[in-house]
Amino acid sequence: MWRALLLCVFVLLSKVSKLNSHQRKPQKHYCASIIVISFVSVSSAHFFRVVIPLVIPPSLAITVWSILKKDFMVEVGKWPMFTLLSPEEVKSIRQACVFGSLANEVVYITESGEVFAFGVNCSNCLGTGDGQSTVAPKKIEALCGKKIVSLSYGSGPHVLLATKDGEIYAWGHNGYSQLGNGTAGQGLIPFLVSSMVYDKKAVEVACGSHHSMMLTPEGEVYAWGYNNCGQVGSGSTANQPTPRRVANSLQSKKALAIACGQTSSMAVADNGEVYGWGYNGSGQLGIGNNGNQLTPCRLAGLQGVCVQQIVCGYAHTLALTDEGLLYAWGANNYGQLGTGNKTNQPVPAVVEIAACHSSYTSAAKTQNGQVYMWGQCRGQSITLPHLTHFTCTDDVFACFASPAVMWRLLTVEQDDHLTVAQSLQREFNSSETSDLKFCVEGKYIHVHKAVLKIRCEHFRTMFQSYWSEDEKEVIEINQFTYPVYHSFLEYLYTDSVNLPPEDAIGLLDLATSYCENRLKKLCQQIIKRGIAEENAFSLLSAAVRYDAMDLEEFCFKFCVNHLTAVTNTDAFWQMDGNLLKEFISKASKCGAFRN
Ligand SMILES: *[C@@H]1O[C@H](CO)[C@@H](O)[C@H](O)[C@H]1NC(C)=O
Ligand SMILES: *[C@@H]1O[C@H](CO)[C@@H](O)[C@H](O)[C@H]1NC(C)=O
Ligand SMILES: *[C@@H]1O[C@H](CO)[C@@H](O)[C@H](O)[C@H]1NC(C)=O
Ligand SMILES: *[C@@H]1O[C@H](CO)[C@@H](O)[C@H](O)[C@H]1NC(C)=O
Ligand SMILES: *[C@@H]1O[C@H](CO)[C@@H](O)[C@H](O)[C@H]1NC(C)=O
Repeated sequence: MWRALLLCVFVLLSKVSKLNSHQRKPQKHYCASIIVISFVSVSSAHFFRVVIPLVIPPSLAITVWSILKKDFMVEVGKWPMFTLLSPEEVKSIRQACVFGSLANEVVYITESGEVFAFGVNCSNCLGTGDGQSTVAPKKIEALCGKKIVSLSYGSGPHVLLATKDGEIYAWGHNGYSQLGNGTAGQGLIPFLVSSMVYDKKAVEVACGSHHSMMLTPEGEVYAWGYNNCGQVGSGSTANQPTPRRVANSLQSKKALAIACGQTSSMAVADNGEVYGWGYNGSGQLGIGNNGNQLTPCRLAGLQGVCVQQIVCGYAHTLALTDEGLLYAWGANNYGQLGTGNKTNQPVPAVVEIAACHSSYTSAAKTQNGQVYMWGQCRGQSITLPHLTHFTCTDDVFACFASPAVMWRLLTVEQDDHLTVAQSLQREFNSSETSDLKFCVEGKYIHVHKAVLKIRCEHFRTMFQSYWSEDEKEVIEINQFTYPVYHSFLEYLYTDSVNLPPEDAIGLLDLATSYCENRLKKLCQQIIKRGIAEENAFSLLSAAVRYDAMDLEEFCFKFCVNHLTAVTNTDAFWQMDGNLLKEFISKASKCGAFRN
């Protein structure tokens, strides 16, 4: 019966294009009229075709494929641990991984290739050698300068990584020999596993809770560590102290990708076949027969589909085909399979799937860059793929997975793109692009008429054609000092003011006469922050002069509170007669001279 159903799905699918080829790229002409049968029963195994509930017009699907090629900017800022770092340190990060049962451990790699770790020292998983927890990043000397291409972690946690040269390093929890060095003592510093694998190189690594896997460039899979359910694929349930080639039905296959659930393992062969072994209590192996599998077993239910990516959650598995179709199987206690009952609807092709062995969360990104999540999301069980506003699946894990760990080694794209605001900021006082100069106290400031007109009503009026200023290339300013006029123009380009309080009074004057209300407020803030006994009276006088009532009130209170000290300053004695009288009268009214 299942064969008939599958056949039915595939006949329908093959209207779009012929199957069985593994080189096909996601189809441009993605068809909007596929009839999807969303679940197929394979005797005791259940495969679900996850239907992303979204309608996109086929024409759009064509255009968006090109957008996809542009990588979306990924940031580490969404993971709380990074708030411990300075903005400069965050900016230097090129790759990062947050892990641990409470997402309290971090490894990151900087622009210059230095490797750091910080967080809780659970099982010595920081690899720093001293076994200490730390809030300040510590360098992992042994790894600095090595280009890291793949990194994974277990629940112990233990950390496993592969370098560009194919070296494999491991450290942290080793209670089940998951470091692969033949012993079960904890690894304080990175241990070079390569020597235990006859110097085989690795292109990808994956960790389950306490077992480890690596994939070689030749497509061989090696596994070691905890083996209580056969997750090492050795045919027994004895823990595996050193890396061992996963053979049997995988022996003659070239593997393309590997993934680990908590206690299960998956591999995708280059012909699109999927193999699973280890624990099968929730059907996560997707095989028809009963029992945990001690050796790799091909997923017959996926016959005829060409899988290209595979990821495992705690006890569920997601597989993505070369046509952008998403299959899910295994545990569904939080809805992590995303099984909707929608039939007969257009579906967008999926291009990336995401899951992590320590969570029940699933995520996928579609061809047009939309990111969906389902499963356990911050305590809620979301049973249908839910469209988010994220641009990458990593953000789903940062914000909705528990623990909020990374599902993969995060790569931060170096971005030299400037925003409009940054570009504008850079062009302030640029003689290269400017079309106007101001001359203040004999010094020149280069600006752009268009910018001034856009940013300030005063200039918009000034540059209307009937003003003579419009023809000029240099405008002389005599009414304001250089620091004041300079920071005014700079404010128009940057939105911010950087002036000492004494000069801010001059700028307040300017802002008042140009009717720049926001600038007025900024100046008042600067003055309030900079008030002191020595300048309190001159600031008060200025506030009165520039009609800044709020500021006047503030300065007045300050003067009353510090009456003895401020009356001993020069500014007090230089105060204008009327202003002084007014001050004394107001101060006496509020009881300043009572004793
Ligand atoms: C670091 O973790 C290890 C293993 O959990 C423990 O033995 C050690 O005492 C810890 N060190 C500190 C300073 O907490
Ligand atoms: C394996 O790691 C342990 C703990 O770091 C260490 O004591 C032992 O010497 C290592 N074994 C080998 C063969 O390197
Ligand atoms: C293995 O998974 C299948 C479903 O795919 C399930 O019927 C079977 O009971 C599982 N085996 C065990 C030991 O739970
Ligand atoms: C899906 O639809 C089938 C048939 O209409 C129904 O038996 C099943 O209960 C539905 N499942 C869910 C989760 O709604
Ligand atoms: C503005 O540019 C001129 C010439 O390019 C330069 O001499 C001057 O120092 C600059 N002023 C500021 C504040 O950067």
